[in-house]
Amino acid sequence: MRPTLPPRQRPEAHIDIAVLASGSGTNLQALIDTPSVRPHIRLVVSDNPDAQALTRAEDHGIATSVVGWADHRNRDSFSVAIADAIEQSGAKGVVLAGFMRILARSFIDRFPERILNIHPSLLPAFPGSQAVETAIDHGVKVSGVTVHFVDEMVDHGPIVAQVPVAVRPGDTVQTLHQRIRVEEHRIYPEVVEAFVEGRLRVEGRRVDWR
Ligand code: GRF
Repeated sequence: MRPTLPPRQRPEAHIDIAVLASGSGTNLQALIDTPSVRPHIRLVVSDNPDAQALTRAEDHGIATSVVGWADHRNRDSFSVAIADAIEQSGAKGVVLAGFMRILARSFIDRFPERILNIHPSLLPAFPGSQAVETAIDHGVKVSGVTVHFVDEMVDHGPIVAQVPVAVRPGDTVQTLHQRIRVEEHRIYPEVVEAFVEGRLRVEGRRVDWR
């Protein structure tokens, strides 16, 4: 009889990833700096040719691709171009790291339960692109970070991990976002490591780590 190994020792197929980023790419950098994740980054895609994220990838010998929003007639063709680049790279998973475009439903259907996102609030509070500003405007005392799988609704899919960040009196968008980023750079590499190692399981809206 074959012995049953505990879950962490069971051999799992690795999932190589593409990282999508539009801006400074500090979360991408945190992933690049994680030895268990770095070899699994096949491609970095940006919609912005000037994104610092592209330079960070190039500095580390990671392939890059720019897919310009204005070069496509609609969201579908933009999303298909990105999905095709990802598939050609051999990546099977997608990690959004500050990607500022909404992807078409057809994109999400091509990578079912294989797209992660990081968002600077405790979802379901404050979805959308102004999450830090809106949290401050509401006077909340605690905000934070959410890592979740992407579904057909924006900032909505099954939650993998959350980290609270206290809002301090006098916080500005910049000071609060700075402290949120510190937590992002800690939690995203942990989650993405589990993802590439095939240790995340989605059951409805619940996600188990193994
Ligand atoms: C992060 O705060 C992330 O939560 C949000 O976009 C920001 C990206 O920052 N989705 P960076 O480009 O990784 O520095």
